[in-house]
Amino acid sequence: EKGGFDTFMEKEIHDQPHAVADTLLGRTDETGSLVLDEMGMSEEDLRAIDKMVIVACGTAAYAGMVAKYAIERWARIPVEVELAHEFRYRDPVIDEKTLVVSISQSGETMDTLMAVRHAKELGARTISICNTHGSTIPRESDGVLYTHAGPEIAVASTKAFLAQITASYILGLYLVQVRRDKREGVAEVMAELQAIPAKIESLLEGMDRVKEIARFMADTRAVLFLGRHVGFPVAMEGALKLKELAYIHAEGFAAGELKHGPIALIEPGQPVFVVVPSPDSEHGLHGKVVSNIQEIRARGARTLVIAEEGDEDVVPFADEVIRVPRTQALLAPLLTVVPLQVFALELSTAKGLDVDQPRNLAKSVTVE
Ligand code: M6R
Repeated sequence: EKGGFDTFMEKEIHDQPHAVADTLLGRTDETGSLVLDEMGMSEEDLRAIDKMVIVACGTAAYAGMVAKYAIERWARIPVEVELAHEFRYRDPVIDEKTLVVSISQSGETMDTLMAVRHAKELGARTISICNTHGSTIPRESDGVLYTHAGPEIAVASTKAFLAQITASYILGLYLVQVRRDKREGVAEVMAELQAIPAKIESLLEGMDRVKEIARFMADTRAVLFLGRHVGFPVAMEGALKLKELAYIHAEGFAAGELKHGPIALIEPGQPVFVVVPSPDSEHGLHGKVVSNIQEIRARGARTLVIAEEGDEDVVPFADEVIRVPRTQALLAPLLTVVPLQVFALELSTAKGLDVDQPRNLAKSVTVE
């Protein structure tokens, strides 16, 4: 059942090319238009939406943060992302023109379910991005976009995360098609998304050095993760994986925040992962993140740099360079998170811990 792997998590990391490919499957018709038939809303209703709020917890919330960057950029609709348990207990300003999108692997997370119920009471339209057919959250939502990651057994979410990000891209592109009547950009992104599974495959084949780095870090007490733009939620996800699996203190920061505080944490030998945007990104943040690497290296940090193939600018300041294939800037999280998953898995294994069932955690949190 573990497909020849030692743990479910390792199997699920290797399932990721399929999780992305299967989530993309059957979303377009013969003319190349996206068809999402379980949205539970007419195109007219979707055109009337003036704001989107994404509610989720844990890893699913990080998928939501990635979605915000993509959906705002493509569909030009304001997107807020909020932890479901926070959303529920404040007084959110939403109405029938708000689309509340919940993201949940299990579809049974109580905090997320309560947020969806709250949104409905306030009159919002609700859609869920979910991996479990017939579970409570999609049943209680107006519409659903299922991820097709297959069952995820390990407590730490991996393939569901990639599938959630993929599904939110599809939702964003659908909104472009419906609201902006633009089809060209959509086809281009869909074509690149189709190329992602093979890129994950090749990335997974080159993980030996990442595993080696992890094995030598079994005594590490703290690891920092920096990222910017869509690399920021990836940094936080990398930190969460390490907390959950290896019980190591880990924090993810937005790289731009460094000089506003976190740089005080840097002391000689402190390991820091840095998720570097592509040098070709239109947002132009590559140079800024390279400067951050330089700054922390000058203070003694051990820099573990995740950078695109061919990005030579990082080399002088990197103790280790972990290469990822090239892709569009907004799609990069589907690749950059993979080495961080492998790193946490390997470190947990090196410490002799239970990878699939970390202490104190449940696969789905069905209490508030
Ligand atoms: O089933 P859900 O996606 O709603 O679960 C949300 C979180 O509980 C979940 O992602 C959790 O953070 C994982 N253990 C992360 O690895």
